[in-house]
Amino acid sequence: MMKTVFIRTFGCQMNVHDSEKMLGVLQKDGYFETHDPRKADLIIFNTCGIRQKAEQKFYSELGKTKSYKKRRPEMKVAVAGCIAQHEGGNLFTRAPYVDFVFGPQNIHMLHDIVSRRNRSLALEDNPDIAKEDLPVKRGDEVKAWVTIMYGCNNYCSYCVVPYTRGRERSRSSENICAEIKELAEQGYKEITLLGQNVNSYRSDINFPGLLRRLERVGGIERIRFVTSHPGDLSDELMDAIAELTKVCEHIHLPLQSGSNNVLRLMNRRYTYEEYMKKVLRLRDKVQGIAITSDIIAGFPGETEEDHIHTVKALKEIEFDGIFAFKFSSRPGTRAEEMKGHLSKEVKSERLQQILEIQEEITEKKNRSLEGTTHEILIEGESVTDKGKLTGRTRTNKIVNIPKVESEKGTVLHVEITRGRQHSLEGKVIKE
Ligand code: 5AD
Ligand code: SF4
Repeated sequence: MMKTVFIRTFGCQMNVHDSEKMLGVLQKDGYFETHDPRKADLIIFNTCGIRQKAEQKFYSELGKTKSYKKRRPEMKVAVAGCIAQHEGGNLFTRAPYVDFVFGPQNIHMLHDIVSRRNRSLALEDNPDIAKEDLPVKRGDEVKAWVTIMYGCNNYCSYCVVPYTRGRERSRSSENICAEIKELAEQGYKEITLLGQNVNSYRSDINFPGLLRRLERVGGIERIRFVTSHPGDLSDELMDAIAELTKVCEHIHLPLQSGSNNVLRLMNRRYTYEEYMKKVLRLRDKVQGIAITSDIIAGFPGETEEDHIHTVKALKEIEFDGIFAFKFSSRPGTRAEEMKGHLSKEVKSERLQQILEIQEEITEKKNRSLEGTTHEILIEGESVTDKGKLTGRTRTNKIVNIPKVESEKGTVLHVEITRGRQHSLEGKVIKE
Protein backbone atom coordinates (compact mmCIF):
# COMPACT_ATOMS: atom_id res chain seq x y z
CA MET A 1 0.00 0.00 0.00
CA MET A 2 1.25 3.49 -0.85
CA LYS A 3 2.00 5.62 2.19
CA THR A 4 3.01 9.26 2.30
CA VAL A 5 5.41 11.15 4.50
CA PHE A 6 5.83 14.86 5.10
CA ILE A 7 9.17 15.92 6.57
CA ARG A 8 9.67 19.39 8.02
CA THR A 9 13.35 20.19 8.58
CA PHE A 10 14.76 22.85 10.89
CA GLY A 11 18.39 23.81 11.40
CA CYS A 12 21.68 23.09 9.72
CA GLN A 13 22.83 21.24 6.60
CA MET A 14 23.47 18.25 8.80
CA ASN A 15 19.76 18.13 9.54
CA VAL A 16 18.79 18.68 5.92
CA HIS A 17 20.99 15.73 5.03
CA ASP A 18 19.53 13.65 7.88
CA SER A 19 16.10 14.29 6.39
CA GLU A 20 17.41 12.96 3.06
CA LYS A 21 18.48 9.82 4.93
CA MET A 22 15.06 9.49 6.59
CA LEU A 23 13.41 9.74 3.18
CA GLY A 24 15.85 7.15 1.85
CA VAL A 25 15.00 4.69 4.61
CA LEU A 26 11.26 5.29 4.30
CA GLN A 27 11.26 5.01 0.54
CA LYS A 28 12.49 1.45 0.92
CA ASP A 29 9.43 0.94 3.07
CA GLY A 30 7.07 2.13 0.35
CA TYR A 31 6.68 5.75 1.45
CA PHE A 32 6.40 8.67 -0.96
CA GLU A 33 7.12 12.25 -0.04
CA THR A 34 4.22 14.69 0.07
CA HIS A 35 4.42 18.45 0.51
CA ASP A 36 0.99 18.70 2.13
CA PRO A 37 1.13 17.77 5.83
CA ARG A 38 -2.66 17.37 6.01
CA LYS A 39 -2.55 14.51 3.52
CA ALA A 40 0.42 12.70 5.03
CA ASP A 41 0.24 9.31 6.75
CA LEU A 42 3.35 10.24 8.65
CA ILE A 43 4.62 13.68 9.63
CA ILE A 44 8.21 13.99 10.79
CA PHE A 45 9.60 17.11 12.43
CA ASN A 46 13.37 17.04 12.14
CA THR A 47 14.14 19.59 14.81
CA CYS A 48 16.99 21.91 15.76
CA GLY A 49 17.73 23.06 19.28
CA ILE A 50 20.57 25.42 18.60
CA ARG A 51 18.63 28.60 19.35
CA GLN A 52 15.35 29.25 21.09
CA LYS A 53 13.83 30.75 17.95
CA ALA A 54 14.10 27.51 15.99
CA GLU A 55 12.67 25.65 18.95
CA GLN A 56 9.66 27.97 19.27
CA LYS A 57 8.96 27.71 15.57
CA PHE A 58 8.96 23.93 15.83
CA TYR A 59 6.54 23.88 18.77
CA SER A 60 4.14 26.22 17.02
CA GLU A 61 4.14 24.03 13.88
CA LEU A 62 3.82 20.89 15.97
CA GLY A 63 0.71 22.37 17.61
CA LYS A 64 -1.01 22.52 14.24
CA THR A 65 -0.72 18.79 13.69
CA LYS A 66 -3.16 18.23 16.56
CA SER A 67 -6.05 19.39 14.40
CA TYR A 68 -4.79 17.43 11.36
CA LYS A 69 -4.80 14.33 13.48
CA LYS A 70 -8.28 14.98 14.77
CA ARG A 71 -9.50 14.87 11.20
CA ARG A 72 -7.39 11.83 10.33
CA PRO A 73 -6.72 9.81 13.48
CA GLU A 74 -4.67 7.24 11.57
CA MET A 75 -1.99 9.86 10.91
CA LYS A 76 1.28 9.38 12.84
CA VAL A 77 3.44 12.22 14.13
CA ALA A 78 7.15 11.82 14.81
CA VAL A 79 9.64 14.22 16.36
CA ALA A 80 13.26 13.67 15.34
CA GLY A 81 16.52 15.57 15.54
CA CYS A 82 18.18 17.56 18.27
CA ILE A 83 15.12 18.59 20.33
CA ALA A 84 13.90 15.00 20.27
CA GLN A 85 17.24 13.86 21.67
CA HIS A 86 17.21 16.55 24.32
CA GLU A 87 13.57 16.36 25.42
CA GLY A 88 12.96 12.64 24.93
CA GLY A 89 9.77 11.38 26.56
CA ASN A 90 8.80 14.87 27.77
CA LEU A 91 7.53 15.46 24.27
CA PHE A 92 4.76 12.89 24.80
CA THR A 93 3.61 14.79 27.87
CA ARG A 94 3.82 18.17 26.23
CA ALA A 95 2.14 17.03 23.01
CA PRO A 96 0.16 13.83 23.62
CA TYR A 97 -0.63 13.50 19.92
CA VAL A 98 3.05 12.71 19.19
CA ASP A 99 3.55 9.01 18.36
CA PHE A 100 7.31 8.62 17.89
CA VAL A 101 10.37 10.40 19.24
CA PHE A 102 13.81 9.50 17.91
CA GLY A 103 17.22 11.16 18.03
CA PRO A 104 19.75 12.03 15.29
CA GLN A 105 21.61 8.81 16.02
CA ASN A 106 18.60 6.56 15.49
CA ILE A 107 17.71 7.14 11.85
CA HIS A 108 18.82 3.61 11.01
CA MET A 109 15.95 2.32 13.19
CA LEU A 110 13.29 4.35 11.41
CA HIS A 111 11.78 1.37 9.60
CA ASP A 112 11.25 -0.36 12.91
CA ILE A 113 10.06 2.77 14.74
CA VAL A 114 7.32 3.74 12.28
CA SER A 115 5.97 0.23 12.02
CA ARG A 116 5.14 0.16 15.73
CA ARG A 117 1.54 0.48 16.79
CA ASN A 118 2.26 2.14 20.09
CA ARG A 119 4.06 5.25 21.07
CA SER A 120 7.78 4.76 20.99
CA LEU A 121 10.97 6.45 21.99
CA ALA A 122 14.41 5.79 20.49
CA LEU A 123 17.36 7.72 21.83
CA GLU A 124 20.66 6.00 21.42
CA ASP A 125 23.83 7.41 22.78
CA ASN A 126 26.77 5.67 21.27
CA PRO A 127 25.62 3.96 18.12
CA ASP A 128 27.65 1.66 15.98
CA ILE A 129 28.79 3.87 13.15
CA ALA A 130 28.36 1.12 10.55
CA LYS A 131 24.61 1.44 10.98
CA GLU A 132 24.79 4.99 9.82
CA ASP A 133 25.46 4.09 6.17
CA LEU A 134 21.89 4.57 5.16
CA PRO A 135 20.04 4.80 1.87
CA VAL A 136 19.64 8.46 0.91
CA LYS A 137 16.95 10.18 -1.13
CA ARG A 138 18.86 13.27 -2.24
CA GLY A 139 17.17 16.57 -2.91
CA ASP A 140 19.50 17.61 -5.75
CA GLU A 141 21.10 15.94 -8.77
CA VAL A 142 24.28 17.99 -8.96
CA LYS A 143 25.35 18.76 -5.41
CA ALA A 144 25.41 16.16 -2.65
CA TRP A 145 26.16 16.14 1.05
CA VAL A 146 28.26 13.40 2.54
CA THR A 147 28.62 13.03 6.30
CA ILE A 148 32.21 12.22 7.23
CA MET A 149 31.95 12.51 11.00
CA TYR A 150 29.25 12.58 13.61
CA GLY A 151 28.98 14.39 16.91
CA CYS A 152 31.28 16.90 18.54
CA ASN A 153 33.80 16.90 21.39
CA ASN A 154 34.44 20.63 21.58
CA TYR A 155 31.95 21.65 24.25
CA CYS A 156 31.74 25.31 23.34
CA SER A 157 29.92 26.59 26.39
CA TYR A 158 26.88 27.92 24.47
CA CYS A 159 26.24 24.87 22.32
CA VAL A 160 23.81 21.96 22.64
CA VAL A 161 25.37 19.85 19.90
CA PRO A 162 27.66 17.64 22.03
CA TYR A 163 24.59 16.73 24.08
CA THR A 164 22.32 15.98 21.12
CA ARG A 165 24.68 14.43 18.59
CA GLY A 166 26.98 12.61 20.93
CA ARG A 167 30.74 12.14 20.94
CA GLU A 168 32.84 12.56 17.83
CA ARG A 169 32.92 9.53 15.53
CA SER A 170 34.57 9.46 12.09
CA ARG A 171 33.39 7.27 9.22
CA SER A 172 36.04 5.11 7.57
CA SER A 173 37.72 6.71 4.57
CA GLU A 174 36.95 3.63 2.50
CA ASN A 175 33.29 4.01 3.19
CA ILE A 176 33.29 7.71 2.36
CA CYS A 177 35.22 7.11 -0.89
CA ALA A 178 32.81 4.38 -1.93
CA GLU A 179 29.83 6.70 -1.39
CA ILE A 180 31.46 9.49 -3.37
CA LYS A 181 32.45 7.20 -6.25
CA GLU A 182 28.85 6.11 -6.46
CA LEU A 183 27.70 9.74 -6.48
CA ALA A 184 30.15 10.49 -9.29
CA GLU A 185 28.73 7.59 -11.29
CA GLN A 186 25.26 9.01 -10.80
CA GLY A 187 26.44 12.31 -12.27
CA TYR A 188 27.03 14.41 -9.14
CA LYS A 189 29.57 17.18 -9.63
CA GLU A 190 29.91 18.77 -6.23
CA ILE A 191 30.35 17.16 -2.84
CA THR A 192 30.09 18.89 0.51
CA LEU A 193 31.69 16.96 3.34
CA LEU A 194 29.71 17.40 6.52
CA GLY A 195 30.69 17.29 10.16
CA GLN A 196 30.40 19.49 13.23
CA ASN A 197 34.15 19.87 13.10
CA VAL A 198 35.49 18.33 9.89
CA ASN A 199 39.12 19.26 10.57
CA SER A 200 39.25 16.83 13.44
CA TYR A 201 38.24 13.94 11.16
CA ARG A 202 40.40 10.96 11.98
CA SER A 203 40.18 7.36 10.81
CA ASP A 204 43.05 5.54 9.11
CA ILE A 205 43.85 8.99 7.64
CA ASN A 206 43.31 12.59 8.78
CA PHE A 207 41.21 15.27 7.09
CA PRO A 208 43.87 16.59 4.65
CA GLY A 209 44.58 12.93 3.79
CA LEU A 210 40.90 12.37 3.07
CA LEU A 211 40.81 15.41 0.79
CA ARG A 212 43.84 14.06 -1.11
CA ARG A 213 42.13 10.72 -1.58
CA LEU A 214 38.86 12.30 -2.73
CA GLU A 215 40.67 14.51 -5.23
CA ARG A 216 41.29 11.35 -7.26
CA VAL A 217 37.60 10.45 -7.66
CA GLY A 218 36.85 11.02 -11.36
CA GLY A 219 33.70 12.93 -12.29
CA ILE A 220 33.55 15.01 -9.13
CA GLU A 221 34.56 18.58 -9.92
CA ARG A 222 34.21 20.39 -6.64
CA ILE A 223 34.81 19.43 -3.04
CA ARG A 224 33.59 21.60 -0.17
CA PHE A 225 33.46 21.02 3.56
CA VAL A 226 31.71 22.46 6.64
CA THR A 227 32.27 23.29 9.46
CA SER A 228 35.86 23.98 10.49
CA HIS A 229 37.05 24.82 13.99
CA PRO A 230 39.83 27.44 13.95
CA GLY A 231 41.68 25.52 16.66
CA ASP A 232 42.03 22.48 14.39
CA LEU A 233 42.94 24.33 11.20
CA SER A 234 46.45 23.03 10.51
CA ASP A 235 49.08 24.10 8.00
CA GLU A 236 48.71 20.68 6.45
CA LEU A 237 45.03 21.42 5.74
CA MET A 238 45.82 24.85 4.34
CA ASP A 239 48.37 23.24 2.01
CA ALA A 240 45.83 20.66 0.88
CA ILE A 241 43.29 23.38 0.05
CA ALA A 242 45.99 25.25 -1.85
CA GLU A 243 47.27 22.27 -3.83
CA LEU A 244 44.16 20.26 -4.60
CA THR A 245 42.35 21.54 -7.65
CA LYS A 246 38.93 20.16 -6.76
CA VAL A 247 38.89 21.55 -3.23
CA CYS A 248 37.16 24.92 -3.48
CA GLU A 249 38.68 28.17 -2.24
CA HIS A 250 36.22 28.74 0.56
CA ILE A 251 36.27 28.04 4.25
CA HIS A 252 33.58 28.60 6.85
CA LEU A 253 35.57 29.38 9.96
CA PRO A 254 33.41 30.53 12.87
CA LEU A 255 35.11 33.22 14.95
CA GLN A 256 32.14 33.74 17.34
CA SER A 257 33.70 36.79 19.06
CA GLY A 258 36.59 39.19 18.62
CA SER A 259 37.17 39.45 22.38
CA ASN A 260 39.60 37.12 24.09
CA ASN A 261 37.62 37.33 27.34
CA VAL A 262 34.49 36.15 25.59
CA LEU A 263 36.36 33.50 23.58
CA ARG A 264 37.65 32.11 26.88
CA LEU A 265 34.16 32.05 28.38
CA MET A 266 32.95 30.34 25.23
CA ASN A 267 35.65 27.68 25.60
CA ARG A 268 36.80 28.27 22.03
CA ARG A 269 40.45 27.33 22.69
CA TYR A 270 41.98 30.16 20.60
CA THR A 271 42.63 33.86 20.97
CA TYR A 272 41.68 36.49 18.41
CA GLU A 273 45.38 36.91 17.57
CA GLU A 274 45.78 33.19 16.88
CA TYR A 275 42.68 33.24 14.69
CA MET A 276 43.95 36.26 12.76
CA LYS A 277 47.31 34.59 12.19
CA LYS A 278 45.58 31.62 10.60
CA VAL A 279 43.47 33.90 8.40
CA LEU A 280 46.61 35.64 7.14
CA ARG A 281 48.34 32.32 6.44
CA LEU A 282 45.29 31.00 4.63
CA ARG A 283 45.06 34.09 2.47
CA ASP A 284 48.74 33.84 1.74
CA LYS A 285 48.67 30.16 0.81
CA VAL A 286 45.32 30.03 -1.03
CA GLN A 287 44.94 32.84 -3.54
CA GLY A 288 41.49 34.41 -3.47
CA ILE A 289 40.10 32.20 -0.73
CA ALA A 290 36.73 33.33 0.63
CA ILE A 291 36.36 33.18 4.38
CA THR A 292 32.94 33.22 6.03
CA SER A 293 32.16 33.10 9.70
CA ASP A 294 29.65 32.89 12.54
CA ILE A 295 29.36 35.54 15.25
CA ILE A 296 27.37 35.45 18.47
CA ALA A 297 26.20 38.82 19.81
CA GLY A 298 25.68 39.36 23.52
CA PHE A 299 27.24 36.30 25.13
CA PRO A 300 26.78 36.35 28.96
CA GLY A 301 29.26 38.75 30.51
CA GLU A 302 30.08 40.46 27.18
CA THR A 303 30.90 44.10 27.95
CA GLU A 304 30.59 47.05 25.58
CA GLU A 305 34.38 46.83 25.21
CA ASP A 306 34.20 43.14 24.26
CA HIS A 307 31.57 43.99 21.66
CA ILE A 308 33.81 46.73 20.24
CA HIS A 309 36.55 44.12 19.86
CA THR A 310 34.18 42.05 17.72
CA VAL A 311 33.33 45.09 15.60
CA LYS A 312 37.04 45.81 15.16
CA ALA A 313 37.69 42.20 14.24
CA LEU A 314 35.05 42.31 11.51
CA LYS A 315 36.64 45.43 10.06
CA GLU A 316 40.13 44.00 10.27
CA ILE A 317 39.40 40.56 8.83
CA GLU A 318 36.80 41.56 6.23
CA PHE A 319 34.95 38.28 5.94
CA ASP A 320 33.20 37.50 2.66
CA GLY A 321 30.03 36.92 4.66
CA ILE A 322 28.86 36.05 8.13
CA PHE A 323 25.96 34.49 9.96
CA ALA A 324 25.36 36.44 13.14
CA PHE A 325 23.05 35.46 15.98
CA LYS A 326 21.88 36.82 19.29
CA PHE A 327 23.12 34.62 22.09
CA SER A 328 20.37 32.19 23.02
CA SER A 329 20.54 30.43 26.36
CA ARG A 330 20.22 26.69 25.87
CA PRO A 331 19.21 24.29 28.61
CA GLY A 332 21.99 22.08 29.91
CA THR A 333 24.87 24.16 28.53
CA ARG A 334 27.52 25.82 30.68
CA ALA A 335 26.67 29.28 29.37
CA GLU A 336 23.18 28.91 30.80
CA GLU A 337 24.69 28.90 34.29
CA MET A 338 27.00 31.87 33.69
CA LYS A 339 26.64 35.28 35.26
CA GLY A 340 25.89 38.43 33.31
CA HIS A 341 23.14 37.39 30.89
CA LEU A 342 22.25 40.45 28.81
CA SER A 343 18.86 41.91 28.01
CA LYS A 344 17.13 41.25 24.71
CA GLU A 345 17.55 44.93 23.83
CA VAL A 346 21.33 44.95 24.32
CA LYS A 347 21.73 41.73 22.34
CA SER A 348 19.55 43.07 19.50
CA GLU A 349 21.39 46.36 19.37
CA ARG A 350 24.79 44.65 19.18
CA LEU A 351 23.57 42.19 16.57
CA GLN A 352 22.20 45.01 14.47
CA GLN A 353 25.50 46.83 14.58
CA ILE A 354 27.40 43.69 13.60
CA LEU A 355 25.08 43.02 10.67
CA GLU A 356 25.28 46.59 9.38
CA ILE A 357 29.07 46.63 9.45
CA GLN A 358 29.30 43.29 7.69
CA GLU A 359 26.75 44.34 5.05
CA GLU A 360 29.00 47.18 4.01
CA ILE A 361 32.03 44.89 3.89
CA THR A 362 30.23 42.19 1.89
CA GLU A 363 28.98 44.71 -0.63
CA LYS A 364 32.39 46.33 -0.96
CA LYS A 365 33.99 42.91 -1.51
CA ASN A 366 31.38 41.90 -4.05
CA ARG A 367 31.79 45.16 -5.93
CA SER A 368 35.54 44.65 -6.06
CA LEU A 369 34.89 41.48 -8.07
CA GLU A 370 33.37 43.44 -10.96
CA GLY A 371 35.40 42.76 -14.11
CA THR A 372 37.00 39.58 -12.77
CA THR A 373 36.36 36.15 -14.27
CA HIS A 374 35.14 33.07 -12.43
CA GLU A 375 34.18 29.50 -13.01
CA ILE A 376 30.57 28.86 -11.98
CA LEU A 377 28.69 25.60 -11.58
CA ILE A 378 25.12 26.02 -12.82
CA GLU A 379 22.53 25.14 -10.20
CA GLY A 380 19.44 25.86 -12.30
CA GLU A 381 17.00 28.67 -13.02
CA SER A 382 17.17 31.67 -10.72
CA VAL A 383 14.40 31.57 -8.13
CA THR A 384 13.68 35.26 -8.41
CA ASP A 385 14.06 35.73 -12.19
CA LYS A 386 13.02 33.00 -14.62
CA GLY A 387 15.06 34.65 -17.35
CA LYS A 388 18.27 33.94 -15.49
CA LEU A 389 20.42 31.01 -14.45
CA THR A 390 22.05 30.74 -11.06
CA GLY A 391 25.45 29.31 -10.34
CA ARG A 392 28.10 29.48 -7.68
CA THR A 393 31.73 30.45 -7.88
CA ARG A 394 34.32 28.16 -6.29
CA THR A 395 34.38 30.74 -3.50
CA ASN A 396 30.68 29.94 -2.89
CA LYS A 397 29.25 33.21 -4.16
CA ILE A 398 25.97 33.19 -6.03
CA VAL A 399 26.13 34.52 -9.60
CA ASN A 400 23.06 35.20 -11.75
CA ILE A 401 23.55 35.26 -15.51
CA PRO A 402 21.16 35.85 -18.44
CA LYS A 403 19.80 32.50 -19.60
CA VAL A 404 21.95 30.50 -22.02
CA GLU A 405 21.53 26.97 -23.36
CA SER A 406 23.19 25.28 -20.44
CA GLU A 407 22.15 22.45 -18.24
CA LYS A 408 22.23 22.27 -14.49
CA GLY A 409 25.63 20.89 -13.52
CA THR A 410 27.68 22.46 -16.29
CA VAL A 411 30.63 24.69 -15.57
CA LEU A 412 30.70 28.09 -17.27
CA HIS A 413 33.26 30.87 -17.26
CA VAL A 414 31.72 34.21 -16.47
CA GLU A 415 32.75 37.80 -16.04
CA ILE A 416 31.26 39.58 -13.06
CA THR A 417 29.34 42.61 -14.26
CA ARG A 418 27.88 43.75 -10.95
CA GLY A 419 28.49 43.05 -7.28
CA ARG A 420 25.46 43.29 -5.00
CA GLN A 421 24.79 42.71 -1.33
CA HIS A 422 23.74 39.06 -1.55
CA SER A 423 24.77 38.00 -5.04
CA LEU A 424 26.73 38.82 -8.15
CA GLU A 425 25.62 39.38 -11.72
CA GLY A 426 27.67 38.05 -14.59
CA LYS A 427 27.87 37.24 -18.28
CA VAL A 428 29.21 34.13 -19.97
CA ILE A 429 32.60 34.46 -21.58
CA LYS A 430 33.37 30.80 -22.32
CA GLU A 431 31.40 27.57 -22.09
N1 5AD B 1 23.14 31.05 20.78
C1 5AD B 1 23.40 31.73 19.64
N2 5AD B 1 24.08 31.21 18.62
C2 5AD B 1 24.52 29.94 18.73
N3 5AD B 1 25.23 29.15 17.90
C3 5AD B 1 25.41 27.96 18.49
N4 5AD B 1 24.86 27.95 19.70
C4 5AD B 1 24.29 29.17 19.88
C5 5AD B 1 23.57 29.78 20.94
N5 5AD B 1 23.32 29.12 22.07
C6 5AD B 1 25.71 29.62 16.60
C7 5AD B 1 27.23 29.57 16.53
C8 5AD B 1 27.49 28.39 15.62
C9 5AD B 1 26.29 28.44 14.71
C10 5AD B 1 26.03 27.17 13.98
O1 5AD B 1 25.24 28.75 15.59
O2 5AD B 1 27.68 30.77 15.96
O3 5AD B 1 28.71 28.50 14.91
FE1 SF4 C 1 22.24 21.17 13.50
FE2 SF4 C 1 23.03 22.00 15.87
FE3 SF4 C 1 20.58 22.50 15.09
FE4 SF4 C 1 21.33 20.05 15.76
S1 SF4 C 1 21.23 21.80 17.10
S2 SF4 C 1 20.17 20.64 13.95
S3 SF4 C 1 23.41 19.99 15.02
S4 SF4 C 1 22.42 23.30 14.16
